[in-house]
Amino acid sequence: MGRSSKDKRDVYYRRAKEEGWRARSAYKLLQINDDFDIFGGVKKVVDLCAAPGSWSQVLAKKLRGAAGAESDAKIVAVDLQAMAPIPGVIQIQGDITKKSTAQAIIGHFEGEQADLVVCDGAPDVTGLHDIDEYIQAQLLLAALNITTHVLKSGGTFVAKIFRGKDVTLLYAQLKIFFPEVTVFKPRSSRNSSIEAFVVCQGYSPPEGYIPNMSNPLLDQQYDLDFNNLEGPNRVIVPFLACGDLSGFDSDMTYPLQLGEGESYTYHSPTQSPINPPYKEACELRRSDRLVKPSASVLTSADEDRQGVDSGQLGAGGAVGGCGDSGSGDIVSGSSQKSVEKTVNVDAVSGSVRDLVIK
Ligand SMILES: C[S@@+](CC[C@H](N)C(=O)[O-])C[C@H]1O[C@@H](n2cnc3c(N)ncnc32)[C@H](O)[C@@H]1O
Repeated sequence: MGRSSKDKRDVYYRRAKEEGWRARSAYKLLQINDDFDIFGGVKKVVDLCAAPGSWSQVLAKKLRGAAGAESDAKIVAVDLQAMAPIPGVIQIQGDITKKSTAQAIIGHFEGEQADLVVCDGAPDVTGLHDIDEYIQAQLLLAALNITTHVLKSGGTFVAKIFRGKDVTLLYAQLKIFFPEVTVFKPRSSRNSSIEAFVVCQGYSPPEGYIPNMSNPLLDQQYDLDFNNLEGPNRVIVPFLACGDLSGFDSDMTYPLQLGEGESYTYHSPTQSPINPPYKEACELRRSDRLVKPSASVLTSADEDRQGVDSGQLGAGGAVGGCGDSGSGDIVSGSSQKSVEKTVNVDAVSGSVRDLVIK
């Protein structure tokens, strides 16, 4: 498989590299803004789960200008993973479900409030859908909890959501804080993925609500009968799918649009992750110490269900990764120690998504 095959297959992946975005996710935020104008009048913003940084790039460009210095808009970006610097973006490395990280973020807004909080958080794939959906919900609620500490009244919160079976609980909880909650599926997000984004506008917490990091919002006692509620007892969220059909369809393949006699110029990934957790697996692969699978190959349907768009892999959806050209999902075993390693490698970039050691 050639280096450009992914470029041919995924127009958003290709364009991200050509236009200098670190991940194809950049288009999701841009498309959300096209429909909801979330950047209008924004001076302070928090980007949760930000690595490798394409949303922060979008925010810096839109709010601080191309060089990141044309205005004093404040952008605070947070992720578990280290992220290469972006001019004009304050970075915090930490877990958003931890109180200490929340406090560090809040510290940057001492006496001030954010106009916008965005969260593109996605958990590491386990392959167990219920668990993945649950962890994704926890991330969203951790993001919401941080939001209740920093967002100004009337502000906007945008977050990735997995439309799993218990998603109505999340809608109901978001509706407690925002009068307007819309689920949006940007065109750059694959239809086959259960990923969507909630756009929550007009922040207005219940009267008397006091933000408190010690009280997680997700009640573990969630009543299973909730899904059977009808009418006003059940919160209905407007669902807006592919609002603008003029954009590229992320499930389509587009030709490279070359002029006559013109040859294709390959663009390297804009910014590879600097110290990703799968680094060791990449090194093993480069030195040919990963063995081809005998069985047990993860399907792309499995990946998509986790909300992982191929081409947005490794440390938070980087375009690129550690390798040049990949060879698919690989399983390797070490017979000497009876240890089995399951390694899921991106088909093109060669970046390893999951390394499971049994
Ligand atoms: C899809 S990526 C985000 C891509 C990013 N919006 C961009 O445009 O480059 C998801 C990110 O969530 C981060 N993440 C997952 N769990 C987290 C947690 N508990 N705290 C902070 N970040 C987390 C991952 O490290 C990963 O970088």
